[in-house]
Amino acid sequence: MTVRGFGFAALAVGITLAATACTSATQGGANPARPLQAQGAPLPPPSSASTTPSPDPALERAKTAAVEFSGRLRGKLQAAMQQGGPTAAVEVCHAQAPAIAETVMAKHGVRMGRVALPGRHRNPAQEAGDWQLATLEAFQQAVDGGALASEQVSMVRDGLPDGVALRMMRGIATEPGCLACHGKDVATPIRNAILARYPDDQATGFDVGDLRGALWVEVPEDPTGGMQ
Ligand code: HEC
Repeated sequence: MTVRGFGFAALAVGITLAATACTSATQGGANPARPLQAQGAPLPPPSSASTTPSPDPALERAKTAAVEFSGRLRGKLQAAMQQGGPTAAVEVCHAQAPAIAETVMAKHGVRMGRVALPGRHRNPAQEAGDWQLATLEAFQQAVDGGALASEQVSMVRDGLPDGVALRMMRGIATEPGCLACHGKDVATPIRNAILARYPDDQATGFDVGDLRGALWVEVPEDPTGGMQ
């Protein structure tokens, strides 16, 4: 079962923030104290999150993990941008994004990460495969057909492998601030900083509105025993 826009407004917001952390860092320098929000992604009305009739523990865990990941990555990136500019932010994306994901996964007993389509990825470990690839390809088809990248959401509860309670993915849109590191005209110092860490980088050439990738969360049935 795939559900789109299904009453988990807070989750969608949290994931959007996670996905846009690099941009937020780029654009947050003007007023760092202000909470950062995704640009161009319409926020659902505040009431919609509370209309869910009964709490869904697996969804709550996915949501909590996504929000925490976003907050931590955003904080690190903001600090890096303020201290060292975009080149430092490349290092933060390189070192901190996976490290933060590891910490949040361990804390909440979920698996999570970011993926991109094969041939459009930066970190080879984040080239989509398996179920993430099928979902990401469906997202790409929808976006090719005119749908918004930021509105691509998939939540699957049925037909999952033993031990998996929920799989969730959320499309990540390319926004103006992403172009510094993912666009068609990446400045030479930034390009060099990227190539030093990702010699086979294929994650440039994106336009605003393109599907950059997706954030995925997988919640095991058993929080303590499902993390082989
Ligand atoms: C300062 C440079 C920089 C900016 C700005 C930036 N990114 Fe990235 N991005 C990176 C780096 C470096 C990686 C590789 C991180 C890793 O190894 O996990 C990355 C990886 C990703 C990935 C994981 C998939 C892959 O290709 O490895 C996604 C998705 C992504 N970025 C989306 C975005 C979006 C969306 C924006 C804008 C909202 C953005 N990035 C802005 C540098 C940047």
